[in-house]
Amino acid sequence: MTVLLRGLILHTPHNPFHTAGALEAFSDGGLALRDGQIVALGSFSEVRKHHPEAPVQDCREGVLLPGLVDTHVHYPQTRVIGAMGYSLLDWLEKRTLPLEARLSDNRLARELAREFVWLLLRNGTTTALVFGSHFQGATANLFGAAEDVGLRIIAGQVCSDRMLRPELHTTPERSYAEQKMLIQRFHGRGRLRYAVTPRFALSASEGLLEVCQALLQEHPDLHFTTHINENLEEIRTVAELFPWSQHYLHTYDRFGLVTERSVFAHNVHPTEPELARLAEARAAIAHCPSSNAFIGSGIFPMNRHLRHGVRFGLGSDVGGGTGFSLLKEGLMAYLAQRYAPEGVGLTPAHLLYLATQAGAEVLGLGETVGSLTPGKAADVIWVRPEPGSTLEVHFRHLDSAEDLLGSLFTLHGEAQVHRVWLEGREVMVS
Ligand code: GUN
Ligand code: ZN
Repeated sequence: MTVLLRGLILHTPHNPFHTAGALEAFSDGGLALRDGQIVALGSFSEVRKHHPEAPVQDCREGVLLPGLVDTHVHYPQTRVIGAMGYSLLDWLEKRTLPLEARLSDNRLARELAREFVWLLLRNGTTTALVFGSHFQGATANLFGAAEDVGLRIIAGQVCSDRMLRPELHTTPERSYAEQKMLIQRFHGRGRLRYAVTPRFALSASEGLLEVCQALLQEHPDLHFTTHINENLEEIRTVAELFPWSQHYLHTYDRFGLVTERSVFAHNVHPTEPELARLAEARAAIAHCPSSNAFIGSGIFPMNRHLRHGVRFGLGSDVGGGTGFSLLKEGLMAYLAQRYAPEGVGLTPAHLLYLATQAGAEVLGLGETVGSLTPGKAADVIWVRPEPGSTLEVHFRHLDSAEDLLGSLFTLHGEAQVHRVWLEGREVMVS
């Protein structure tokens, strides 16, 4: 059955870093959904002509957007959000890893998984690359919870065998066996995909990175994700642990882990050779601006990534980040670039692109999600201003789509994700 959504529709099917006028807006738009896909997009009157019988959902208050894409978020860390006053390594040791160790308890893991999935949806995220748990059972719970609601996730069991805490350490042999089972069970099942996920080079021996390499060789359609160049002390430690390495990226590259299916979180302090190599390999970056500010990691050198042609999308990095909202991440990216010495002048179209299509491309899903182009999956969100809010005043009085989008990102805290469709099926979020 076809369903028509009617309202202000905004999306960025083109890349605003390359093309002027990348924001496409339909002020009284129509979006037709059928069999999980978008089948038409245009002015409401035009789409209606071709679907005269379809029931219409009136979404004229607020705005219809593509589902948001989070390229970096940690499932065990929802309850860590807000731990102030730390930098990366002491934040991990004192606040994050103790909580992650508790996910050996399957009951807690199941509860956290459900909570996590709903929080993503309530914030309008319909696709995410998720850092799982160090525990196999907890990671299985994450896949199960995502499958139950129809969320599109790429995730994996996090692996580490040194420098964290003993409960979180595995061995290369055990990690291989546990990940194999998860891959067989979940990779390619519905909307679920598996990502090989060493936590970071600091906590991975060469033997463990070899296991990651073996898994990717045995299953060439797996994804790969990890952290890189986030914090200066981390970078110094990695250099000591891998004395043969030319730079941080080399510690992964040596094991064949830098490919177009790789997503590296942060990259706040890259060298020029690393940027050149990332571009050459078509590997991508998850840019997590609120986390970079909150943990005090530094300002993302967006201009240098653009100059080298390194792809990047947005990540919330919960719980180093300040919450699940990618609208907020868009604003944080904008603000950070305003502060940066050679910051990039971002427009509302850039922010929407980064929160949707750019993320989809980073995850290799650019043809599937990220915009509302017909043929793509019907992952759609309807965002409304809270009644009586500043944002509502703006929605009543601004007429330019671009200005409205700028207000939406700026006043994100007053925006409610009111309805969410995953492959055309509405899930209740409010
Ligand atoms: N590096 C290694 N682990 C983590 C983590 O959990 N969060 C962030 N932001 N960086 C990391
Ligand atoms: Zn992270």
